[in-house]
Amino acid sequence: MFTLAHLSDPHLAPLPVPRWSELLGKRVTGYINWQRKRRFIHDSTVLAKIVADMKSQTPDHIAVTGDIANIALPEEFRHGRDWLESLGAAQDVTFVPGNHDVYVAEAANYAARQWGAHMSDDDAIEGFPFLRRRGPLALIGITSGVPTAPFLATGWLGTLQLAGLAETLNALKAEKLFRVVLIHHPPVSQAGRSKALLDAPVLLRIIAAHGADLVIHGHDHVHMLNWLNGPNGTRVPAVGVASASAAFGKDKDAASYHLYRIEGAPGAWTCEVITRGITPDGAIVEQKRFHLIG
Ligand SMILES: [Fe+2]
Repeated sequence: MFTLAHLSDPHLAPLPVPRWSELLGKRVTGYINWQRKRRFIHDSTVLAKIVADMKSQTPDHIAVTGDIANIALPEEFRHGRDWLESLGAAQDVTFVPGNHDVYVAEAANYAARQWGAHMSDDDAIEGFPFLRRRGPLALIGITSGVPTAPFLATGWLGTLQLAGLAETLNALKAEKLFRVVLIHHPPVSQAGRSKALLDAPVLLRIIAAHGADLVIHGHDHVHMLNWLNGPNGTRVPAVGVASASAAFGKDKDAASYHLYRIEGAPGAWTCEVITRGITPDGAIVEQKRFHLIG
């Protein structure tokens, strides 16, 4: 039995005070949005409770699918590194960036510099897709975060990365591992075009051609389960989780995280998913448990 924990969109608070010189372009609208709305949603106490509860479950590995940052100030990346390191060692904690981590063009370098150890493959080579083998799992990290114009939160994978993903998924068939794809944006979403993964149709075609066992994501800050087409009539679950810092009653779904308990072998995998989240009185409790696969 291998236990994978998944949390997403911590949007670390409080936001560092930006310098005037840093409030250029998209950061201006993002900063106003934080001050007016988001700072009341993303609560560091809530996040600390979620993390403490998750650690008490002693998962074998932790996956974080993006949006540590808010408006990608340099200080947010230093805080983000401390937070990632507080979860566990880089080999035990895998991260893929979200749109808020690549909010402005220069931020991609900040993310790579501060968080690179959590998004590199087993040979410590950075870049996407990356591959980590952990027990029966193959964790494949891809990045959908790209800088966009103000008021847009779209994602983009790009031809090169998608080709790499197809090659990786195909090559892994021979290894008989449970293939988990980590991505920030949902492959399927009702959230509208301004938040969508714009090249999702290509991603869906790759999953349909080469298969995967599980796709996990964040971005919409809600619990989601969509079944994607895999090869030969199989289906691939794509599961989204709420923001790990969302105060109860302030966001679409209150803070939670998922535990996946995985065992078996190709053709006979079982995967149970457990949701643990925050209640109105601030306790973290089990909210849902069901067999996703098998
Ligand atoms: Fe987010």
